[in-house]
Amino acid sequence: MQRAYRVWAPAYDLVCGGLFAPSRRRVVALASTAGRDVLEIGVGTGLSLGDYDADMVVTGIDASEAMIAKARERACSIAKADIKRLEVMDAEHLTFADSQFDAVVAQFLITLVPNPERVLDEAYRVLRPGGALFLLNHFRSKNPEIAKLESRLAPMMHHVGLRPDFPFDRVLNWVAGKPDLHAVSRIPSGPMGCFSIVRIGKARA
Ligand SMILES: C[S@@+](CC[C@H](N)C(=O)[O-])C[C@H]1O[C@@H](n2cnc3c(N)ncnc32)[C@H](O)[C@@H]1O
Repeated sequence: MQRAYRVWAPAYDLVCGGLFAPSRRRVVALASTAGRDVLEIGVGTGLSLGDYDADMVVTGIDASEAMIAKARERACSIAKADIKRLEVMDAEHLTFADSQFDAVVAQFLITLVPNPERVLDEAYRVLRPGGALFLLNHFRSKNPEIAKLESRLAPMMHHVGLRPDFPFDRVLNWVAGKPDLHAVSRIPSGPMGCFSIVRIGKARA
């Protein structure tokens, strides 16, 4: 992953910037309703950092040094929010204390990691009761023809760490195992609604 994103980092914003920007902005707006203290896991080059308002406090982590270096540059140049920390860290092993953040945001991450449930567990652990977890991702299409195509493409794309056939049910199954998670909402977003914005609320203590 480190190697892949070292190669990707210089071109990442060109490929994944403009087209995905409205979805990212929507996620930031939703996350900001959960409270001021936000953690972005897999923050990448920090494409969202400029979208947080000045009263927000944002922490970002990413497994790739090259991506975090770009995020730090961006934080200096465009961020209005208080960007508290941008650190190299594995989303499967967060070093933060329990119940620390009002919102945890994972954009285009969950289907890339080898152990999505482990990443979700960590996001859940650092989220305060009453907070919410936000995912932005492509999941396997509900349209059987498109889903068939995604399954056909999957073996090729697995080589570059992408899983176009990742089923949303896997997220729902994970939620079902946590009694204090509730109110899962899924909003279509992005070109032709091919992404989903998912909000998962954690009950108040
Ligand atoms: C597709 S990019 C998305 C970046 C950013 N969230 C965005 O929306 O532009 C995926 C990011 O996840 C990071 N990543 C992959 N596995 C990770 C892990 N286990 N822990 C933290 N970051 C990880 C990659 O380094 C990369 O920056």
